[in-house]
Amino acid sequence: MIGVLGSGNVGRALASGLAAVGHRVTMGTREPGRAELVDWTAGATGAGAVALADPITAATGAELVLVATAWEGTGEALAAVAPALDGKVLIDVTNPLRFTTRLELAVGFTDSGGEQVQRWAPGARVVKAFNTVGFELMDHPDLDGGPPTLFIAGDDASAKADVAGLAADLGWAVHDCGDLVAARLTEPLAMLWIEHALRTGSRRHAFRLLADPQ
Ligand SMILES: NC(=O)c1ccc[n+]([C@@H]2O[C@H](COP(=O)([O-])OP(=O)(O)OC[C@H]3O[C@@H](n4cnc5c(N)ncnc54)[C@H](OP(=O)(O)O)[C@@H]3O)[C@@H](O)[C@H]2O)c1
Repeated sequence: MIGVLGSGNVGRALASGLAAVGHRVTMGTREPGRAELVDWTAGATGAGAVALADPITAATGAELVLVATAWEGTGEALAAVAPALDGKVLIDVTNPLRFTTRLELAVGFTDSGGEQVQRWAPGARVVKAFNTVGFELMDHPDLDGGPPTLFIAGDDASAKADVAGLAADLGWAVHDCGDLVAARLTEPLAMLWIEHALRTGSRRHAFRLLADPQ
């Protein structure tokens, strides 16, 4: 079972996409009884299923957990479930965004949201992934320009292999950027994605790594 923390745009896109290819998913939300969410779940059920639960139940029952919470709530959300994440793969989809006079990263250069997530959930095997594309394209991105690249980063090779498998289920080719410290690179890449969205008004774009064969 896969646990998804956060019932926003990203949580729903990944939960429904993973359920559609046969995974059992439980969405961990602060309001599992919310009518709008219950209605969405009924419509989202594909080959697998999306259940609703509180975050601790979702994290405890899952073999792998995705965190897709608003950055300002991520520390609180992970603190509540951290013991249930020990030894588990934790996919960090968040971007550490804040608004000052403009939208910017709240951490960076010598730190990253991914590394902060690892500190909040020290027993988890954190993999940064899915943060460099809008939620509309997370499940089987179908851009005219061809298949984009999913950039992932993490310290645990087997955790990254698990994430690459899930990414393949969602139609992605993965590029391993190395250790979790590389989240310092992929989070600014998300800012570049957002900049293009804000400037063009479109959200149908993604990055692709082009290279000669080695
Ligand atoms: N939107 C995108 O296209 C996109 C793309 C890549 C990455 N991201 C990143 O993915 C994360 C989720 O984005 P989103 O667009 O899904 O955001 P969203 O629609 O605003 O949803 C965020 C969710 O966070 C959960 N949450 C848990 N604890 C919280 C707290 N204390 N305060 C506020 N929210 C809390 C809420 O779920 P419950 O109420 O169910 O608990 C809420 O639905 C963000 O970090 C974002 O930067 C977004």
